Amino acid sequence: MIKTGTFSTPVACLAPMDGYTDRAYRRIVRQLNPQVVLYSEFTSVHGIEHSEQVRKRLIFDRSELPYFIQIFGNDPAVFGRTVQELQDSGVTGIDINMGCPSKKIVKANTGGSLMKDRDLACRIVEACCKVTALPVTVKTRLGWSDAEQLIDFVKALIDTGIQMISVHGRTYQQKFKGEADWGPIYELKRAVSIPVIGNGDLKSGDEGLARLKNLDGYMIGRASIGNPWVFWPAEKQAEITLKDKVEKMLEHFQLLRQYKDETISLIEFRKHITGYINDFPGAKAFRSLLMKSTTESAFTATARAIC
Ligand SMILES: Cc1cc2nc3c(=O)[nH]c(=O)nc-3n(C[C@H](O)[C@H](O)[C@H](O)COP(=O)(O)O)c2cc1C
Repeated sequence: MIKTGTFSTPVACLAPMDGYTDRAYRRIVRQLNPQVVLYSEFTSVHGIEHSEQVRKRLIFDRSELPYFIQIFGNDPAVFGRTVQELQDSGVTGIDINMGCPSKKIVKANTGGSLMKDRDLACRIVEACCKVTALPVTVKTRLGWSDAEQLIDFVKALIDTGIQMISVHGRTYQQKFKGEADWGPIYELKRAVSIPVIGNGDLKSGDEGLARLKNLDGYMIGRASIGNPWVFWPAEKQAEITLKDKVEKMLEHFQLLRQYKDETISLIEFRKHITGYINDFPGAKAFRSLLMKSTTESAFTATARAIC
């Protein structure tokens, strides 16, 4: 069980999102939400061993704590070596991805495919728990095609040592289609004693609390993109001005610029713009200009012209 004091419950979590929850965005979310538990983008254990580029994903700031690094792979021995290396990095815990439905990931027998290979999933957890006293946790989905196996799967992972589980209320086969079903997540919580975090389709922290029921926490992903205030209560969110949004967007961009060059930053930042710049007359034209900016000064001048 996660030690009390690591974070308070109910836990609000920023979902791990590849291409989004990098250290720039995590810092922005942290500034506005001191209690929210942050997760890294999923990071390949194989990549950590073999690629300098991938290793850069391991960099984080202590201000990000509580912070889980999420890793994925298919080889228990490599997981063991990676976790041994991360043991003294200062992270709150190690989260293992057992839910990613991407074709490439599943084909490599990693991510979501581990829901179908319980033996390998358990050997991976065992290899991690053997080498660290840090909490080892798992993020998964309801199951491969239905939620029939969810409780048994999680119980097996608990017997092997995981201390918390987050569940996205969709199956592998659903990918992102349909609505997330939280029913099986509530049922899971009734069957296990470790903390269970619910995830899927939440639009706000208020909605997370409303859906909590017997769970220990909730996790928000897509609704946080360009909206790091998503965890705030509605009445507090109502006070956010367009100027606040523009300033926060520029701050976010500057954090990215601290470790990426100008062109890469401008390109990578495009996916965040729509979330920040919307819902006012002329927003579309400003977004288009921001996305076409080829220099940081043009980007900043356009943003400043918004308000
Ligand atoms: C662009 C994108 C990237 C994602 N990357 C990850 C990831 O790296 N690890 C992971 O466990 N889930 C990942 N997910 C899934 C989310 O963590 C979350 O489970 C899912 O989006 C459902 O939550 P939401 O409806 O609040 O977005 C990703 C989702 C999106 C949209």
